[in-house]
Amino acid sequence: MAYERNILITGGAGFIGSHVVRHFVRKYPQYRIINFDKLTYAGNLANLKDVENEPNYVFVKGDICDFDFVCSMFAAYDIDGVIHLAAESHVDRSIKDPFTFAKTNVLGTLSLLQAARLQWKKTGYEGKRFYHISTDEVYGALELTHPEGVESDFSAHEVYGDEFFTEETPYRPHSPYSAAKASSDHFVRAFHDTYGMPVVITNCSNNYGPYQFPEKLIPLFINNIRHRKPLPVYGKGENVRDWLYVEDHARAIDVIFHKGKDAETYNIGGFNEWKNIDLIKVLIAEVDRQLGRPAGADEDLITFVTDRAGHDLRYAIDSRKLSRELGWKPSLQFEEGIEKTVRWYLDNQEWLDNVTSGDYQNYYDAMYGNR
Ligand code: NAD
Ligand code: DAU
Repeated sequence: MAYERNILITGGAGFIGSHVVRHFVRKYPQYRIINFDKLTYAGNLANLKDVENEPNYVFVKGDICDFDFVCSMFAAYDIDGVIHLAAESHVDRSIKDPFTFAKTNVLGTLSLLQAARLQWKKTGYEGKRFYHISTDEVYGALELTHPEGVESDFSAHEVYGDEFFTEETPYRPHSPYSAAKASSDHFVRAFHDTYGMPVVITNCSNNYGPYQFPEKLIPLFINNIRHRKPLPVYGKGENVRDWLYVEDHARAIDVIFHKGKDAETYNIGGFNEWKNIDLIKVLIAEVDRQLGRPAGADEDLITFVTDRAGHDLRYAIDSRKLSRELGWKPSLQFEEGIEKTVRWYLDNQEWLDNVTSGDYQNYYDAMYGNR
C-alpha cells in the first residue's frame, strides 16, 4: 500500500512516545508510522502491544546518534515528517551522568537534523516537517510569590506565582538535562534559520499517565504507597510542577504537527499547578481509596530527604497561544486523570515488576529477535 505520509517518531517506545505512536497509528491508517528507538532502560516495546501488529506500524531499533544509520532510515522509508521525542529524560540521572545527556539530547538531535536535511535536499522541503518535542525546563524556574496558592480566573487549580513561562521567556536552563534540551532546541532553530528547514518546537510541562518509568514522581510514589515503602520527598516538598495528562499532550502534538505554523514555538500545559507535597497527599488518598485502606492511612510513608541539586522551584506554563491559535485545550480534569493513572498502575503491577526488574528488555528479542 502507498502511504500518504511516512512519519518517523523517535523515542516511540518511551512514556510519551508510546502514547504518540498509538494515537497516530490508530487515527491515521493512511500514514506509515516508523517508531525509531534505541530501547534504553526507558524504552519498552510492551508499551505498544496493542498496536504492534497494525499494518501501518513499523519498529526499527537504532540510536539517533548513529548518523549513517539514521541517514539510511530516511532514505529507506522516504521520511517526510519527524516527531522527535527520543531523549534522556530524567533530571536526577542527568546530575549523575551529564555526558550521556549531552550525547543523546544534543548530538542525537543534530544527527537527525542533518540526516533530514540531506534527504530533503534531494526532494525539496515542500510537505516536510521536523517537529522537536521539548520541555518547559529550558525556561528555568519561577518564583513562588504566593507560597500558599491563590485562586485564579484562568487556572483549573490554585496558582503559586504571578509569572508564567510564555514562548518569549528567555532560556535559563539549570540542570544538565534542561541545558541539553535547550541546546537541542537551539540547533533545531539554527537549521531553520540557516538551511530553511521546516521546523516546529513545543515546550511542555510535566506529563503523567500510564507507561511512565517508575523513577518519576507519580509512578514511583503510587508503587511505593501500594507496597508501603517510604516516599522520598526532596527538600520540603514545596516545589511546584504543572501537570498534564499524557494523552492530552499526544493530542496537542497531533494538532501542532498538522496545523502549527512553520518555525513557531508553542507551549503546552494544563494550567494545573501542584506543590509536590499536596500532590503526594492526593496520590496517597487515591491509592488508599482504590485499595480500600482507611483515608490517609499511608501518610506516615512521607519521608523528607536531601533536596535535588539545583532543584527548580516552580514551573508554570502559559499555553494560551496554543489554545488561541490552534484551538487545543486539555480534555481531562486532574482528579479524573489521577484516578485513571492510579487505577492503571494498580491494575498493571506486572508491567511495573517487569520494568523494575529489567525483564521487559527481553521483549524485543521475543518480538523481533528472529526476524
Ligand atoms: P522516556 O525516558 O520515557 O523515553 C525516552 C525514549 O527515548 C525511550 O524509549 C528511549 O529508549 C529512547 N531513546 C533514548 N536515547 C535514545 C537514542 N540515543 N536513540 C534512540 N532512542 C533513544 O521519556 P519521556 O518522558 O517519554 O519524554 C519524551 C520526550 O518528551 C523527551 O524529549 C523529553 O525531553 C520530552 N518531555 C517530557 C516530559 C515529561 O514530563 N516526561 C515533559 C516535556 C517534554
Ligand atoms: O517539566 C517537564 C519535565 O518534567 C520533563 O522535561 C522531564 O523529562 C520530566 O522528567 C519531568 O521532570 P521533573 O524533574 O519535574 O519530574 P520528576 O518526576 O523527576 O519530579 C517531579 C517533582 O518531584 C520534582 O520537583 C522533584 C520531586 N521528586 C521527584 C522524585 C523522583 C521528589 O520529591 N522525590 C522523588 O523521588
